[in-house]
Amino acid sequence: AQVVQAEFIKSSVRTEDCPSDGLPEFALVGRSNVGKSSLLNSLVRRKKLALTSKKPGKTQCINHFKVNDSWYLVDLPGYGYASAPQELRTDWNKFTKDYFLNRSTLVSVFLLIDASIPAKKIDLEYASWLGQNQVPMTLIFTKCDKRKKKRNGGKRPEENVNEFQELIRGFFETAPPWIMTSGVTNQGRDEMLLHMAQLRNY
Ligand code: GTP
Ligand code: MG
Repeated sequence: AQVVQAEFIKSSVRTEDCPSDGLPEFALVGRSNVGKSSLLNSLVRRKKLALTSKKPGKTQCINHFKVNDSWYLVDLPGYGYASAPQELRTDWNKFTKDYFLNRSTLVSVFLLIDASIPAKKIDLEYASWLGQNQVPMTLIFTKCDKRKKKRNGGKRPEENVNEFQELIRGFFETAPPWIMTSGVTNQGRDEMLLHMAQLRNY
């Protein structure tokens, strides 16, 4: 299940504008700085695929990357910018919600969670919304290479991962699948590719 080819296709602001070829897709979403672009680049083994399409002022877009000519990785706008007012941080874009609820080719949303820090309220809210709306989701823990630091409460990534799953348990009928990753060591890359291949073949 390796990536042999990947290319940027288009940026869309509405679900209706997304590619209409019916290929299955997986959407990456998470707080700003969680490591979305790094993970995408790690998955496709390209240093700058996600960055090359990132234009200033285009952060509000749904970005489609076609892989092996047969499925899509979708980069969504990050949420929770530390400098934004609270209402803006929680009221994430209407079109992102619309995309989650109405994109028929969306196989699973990959919710990225930083495993190097304790659970954030905004991430729990996001997981809760996805669970309540029964959007298929996979938890992707990022930065699992980061070791314990005093300033993040002295927790190891494994402990943060367990705590996060404990905190979201009530939001889901069955616990979502989860994968530990690192864009630095490429931990979890093969597991993610295999997971996506399995989901596509259902
Ligand atoms: P925005 O596009 O601003 O929303 O951020 P993003 O989610 O795309 O995060 P990005 O990939 O740009 O990474 C943010 C920072 O975290 C950068 O300084 C990365 O080098 C660092 N980073 C990303 N992934 C990892 C990881 O797996 N391990 C470590 N140690 N650092 C990482
Ligand atoms: Mg990015």
